[in-house]
Amino acid sequence: MSDPLTPTPQTTSPMRITVIGTGYLGATHAVCMALLGHSVLGVDVDPTKIEALANGQVPFFEPGLPQKLREALDSGRLRFTTDLDLAAEFGDVHFICVGTPQSAGSDAANMRYVDEAFTELAQRITRRALLVGKSTVPIGTAERLTERVQRVSPAGTELELAWNPEFLREGFAVADTLAPDRLVFGVDSDWARQQLAAVYQPILATGTPLVVADLATSELVKVAANSFLATKISFINAMAEVCEATGADVGLLATALSHDTRIGGRFLQPGLGFGGGCLPKDIRAFAHRADELGVGQAVAFLREVDSINIRRRRRTVDLVREMADDDLAGKRIAALGAAFKPNSDDVRDAPALDVARMLYLEGATVTVYDPEANGNAHLVYPDLNYADGLIEAVTGADVVVLLTEWQEFRDLDPADLGRLVKHRRVVDGRHALDVDNYRANGWEVRSLGRPNHPVSNAVAQG
Ligand code: UDX
Repeated sequence: MSDPLTPTPQTTSPMRITVIGTGYLGATHAVCMALLGHSVLGVDVDPTKIEALANGQVPFFEPGLPQKLREALDSGRLRFTTDLDLAAEFGDVHFICVGTPQSAGSDAANMRYVDEAFTELAQRITRRALLVGKSTVPIGTAERLTERVQRVSPAGTELELAWNPEFLREGFAVADTLAPDRLVFGVDSDWARQQLAAVYQPILATGTPLVVADLATSELVKVAANSFLATKISFINAMAEVCEATGADVGLLATALSHDTRIGGRFLQPGLGFGGGCLPKDIRAFAHRADELGVGQAVAFLREVDSINIRRRRRTVDLVREMADDDLAGKRIAALGAAFKPNSDDVRDAPALDVARMLYLEGATVTVYDPEANGNAHLVYPDLNYADGLIEAVTGADVVVLLTEWQEFRDLDPADLGRLVKHRRVVDGRHALDVDNYRANGWEVRSLGRPNHPVSNAVAQG
C-alpha cells in the first residue's frame, strides 16, 4: 500500500494556487498543496516568516513539516512572497488561512484579519477566480464576504467564494491535511465545486469521503466538530468531579465507557482538559454567534463545557497544594509541561501554563520544563523559572506536577526521579503515569478524579 503522506502519482490537473496567511494552518496547507503537484504561492504580511519559510525553516514546532517543506521547495512548485499583487495575478484558486483569534474583552471571534485578507485580495483580482475560506469563522461570514468581494473586485461576479473547513490537529498537521477523515466543500456553484475537486483530486482518489454543502453548513461543520470534541472531554472531566465526591475512579470509568463502540475512547481522556488556539476560543465564539442569531439556548451547554474545563485547572492546583502540606508559599514545584498538548510548542490557552501561573501566584517557586515550549512560555509568563532539562526542573522539588503528557515524562523511571526530588510526591494532571509503579517506588500519587488508593488497573482488568 502506498504511503498516504507521500502522495504519488500527483494530480493530473495541476493548478495555480495561493495560500494567504502562513501560520500553522496556511504553511501546512501550502506545503501539502505543492506536494499534491500544484504550483503554490504562500503569502504573508510578515516578511520574517516568509523569509524563514522560503529558506526551508518552519517558524513553529510541527513534527514532519520541515522535511515536507524542504521536499516541496526542492520540487520548484512552492514559493513564498509578501506581494499581494503577485498573488492576485498568479492564482486561480486562493485559500485564505488567516487567524480568527478571540476578541479582546469579548467571546466573539476577531474577524479583522479575515475581512482584510478577502477584501484586499479581491480588490486586486481582475479575472475569474475562486476565493476559498479555511479559517474558523462565525456562521454567515461566507455569505457576507461573497457580497463584499464581488462588490470591490474588478472581476465582479466572476470572483466566487467557497468555504473549505480544515480539521487539522497540531502535531499531526501534515497527516491530517494529506489524509483527512473527510473533505467538506461549501459552495454556491458547480464551477466552485469542480475547482475544489480538481485541487483535492489526489486525496479524493484515495476514497476520502466528501461532503458538498452550502456555505452556512460548511462553516457550521467546523465549529460543531470542535464543540463536540470539547463536550466529550468536558463530559469525562465532569464525571471526574463526581468520582472525586464518591471515591470512584474516572480512569476505570473512561476505560469501561470506551469499550462501548457507540461512545468510543477518543477524546475521552480525563485530566486537565483542553486548551490551545482552537477549542476554547471556537466554543466561545460559537456560543456568542448563536446568541446573535437568537438560538443561544441551543448551545448554552457550551458555556458549561467551558466552565467544567476551567475548573479542572483550579482543582489541579488544589491537589498540588494538598500535597504541599496545604500551603504553597515557598514550596518548590516542578511543573512538567507548558504546551497545551504534547508534540507542540503552542502555549495558547495552555492548561499547563495556567496551572503553573496559579501555583506561582500562591507563592510557590515554580520551575517549568517543557521539551519544546519553554521559549514560548517564557514570552507569556517571564516570572516563572524555566529549566533547560528535566533533571534541573525536578531536583529538590517538594511536589512534581505533570501537566503535559510528553513521552519523555511518561517514560520517566520513578526510582531515578525519586533520587532527585526532596519529597516523592507527584500530581498526575494528565493520567499519564504508571501509578502502581510510582507507588511501588515510594511515591505519593494524586490525580484528578481518582481515589488516593485506587484498585490497580492490573487488578481491575482481572
Ligand atoms: C483541534 C481539533 O482536534 C482539530 O480538528 C481542529 O482543526 C483544531 O482544534 P488541536 O487544537 O490541535 O486540534 O488539539 P487536539 O488534539 O484536538 O487537543 C485539544 C486539547 O484537548 C488539548 O489540550 C488536549 O490535551 C485536550 N484533550 C484531548 C483532552 O484533554 N482529552 C482528550 O481526550 C483529548
